[in-house]
Amino acid sequence: MDKEIKNKIARLKEEKDVVILAHYYVDDLVQEIADYVGDSYYLAELATRVPQNTILFCGVSFMGESAKLLNEGKTVVMADADADCPMAHMAEISRIRKVREQYPDVAVVCYVNSTAQIKAESDVCVTSSNAVRIVEKLPNRDIFFIPDENLGRYVAEQLPQKHFIFNDGFCHVHKEIAAKDLAAAKDLHPNALVLTHPECTAEVLALSDFIGSTSQMIDFATQSNQKEFLVCTENGIFYELSQKNPGKKFYPVSRHQCCPNMKRIRLESVLHALQTLEPVVTLDAELSEKARLPLARMLELAK
Ligand code: 13P
Ligand code: SF4
Repeated sequence: MDKEIKNKIARLKEEKDVVILAHYYVDDLVQEIADYVGDSYYLAELATRVPQNTILFCGVSFMGESAKLLNEGKTVVMADADADCPMAHMAEISRIRKVREQYPDVAVVCYVNSTAQIKAESDVCVTSSNAVRIVEKLPNRDIFFIPDENLGRYVAEQLPQKHFIFNDGFCHVHKEIAAKDLAAAKDLHPNALVLTHPECTAEVLALSDFIGSTSQMIDFATQSNQKEFLVCTENGIFYELSQKNPGKKFYPVSRHQCCPNMKRIRLESVLHALQTLEPVVTLDAELSEKARLPLARMLELAK
């Protein structure tokens, strides 16, 4: 059955000249049929370089929106219209405007996990792979980091020369990875190195050996001589970790490492999206113009 769907997908994407991009958190079967799999920065940047006119995005809404914002002329189709990241909505436009009044020289730094409306109010976007580097390059001392508080506090810790204002957004998947579960897992696997996404809590970060984006976690494990790893992020990452490192062992630390929105995307939804070329990402022209600027600035500063 899966094989049949996979064959149909392979045929249709050739016929319709579609490139399939997928995030590491989607189902293994979807990662398998994607043309490219990566972290959110890689996928946003790659979307600007692919030759196909249609991008089929296997990820949550903000990822498809970013691909569309950076490629006005292309069609971006979502594998699932309802796969949305709750954190992407966790910043109030009224608060952003208020902070701008309070701190006239503030830079509003927007984690890419955010809606186009929130990006449109921001000065620059960042992802977990480049946030520290980009904020460090900004001339502003005052930084309002939205929407993720955990990532914001992690960046602030690396850059004590800056003054940070935080927002109370969070990722429910990473927040539920508890420090006590990690401590117990470390007792069980004393030789394992701990790889952690910076959306986790400060208590979990404090117990970690490496902190980085999904791609950076995979690269670290692949380059390491160590054979065992505890992994503090969404469980979709285990597919690529195991593919790249057949001789190494990767353990989750809790039963909660699952993003229900990413897991909405199944082989069947990919096939349906290819057959119908729907749903497409559409954004208001005025909104797009404003939301594109911080994303383009991120690409520039990340070089
Ligand atoms: P990455 O940028 O590391 O891929 O993370 C995206 C994300 O949604 C984390 O929860
Ligand atoms: Fe959003 Fe968290 Fe899912 Fe990432 S893991 S897409 S931040 S809900």
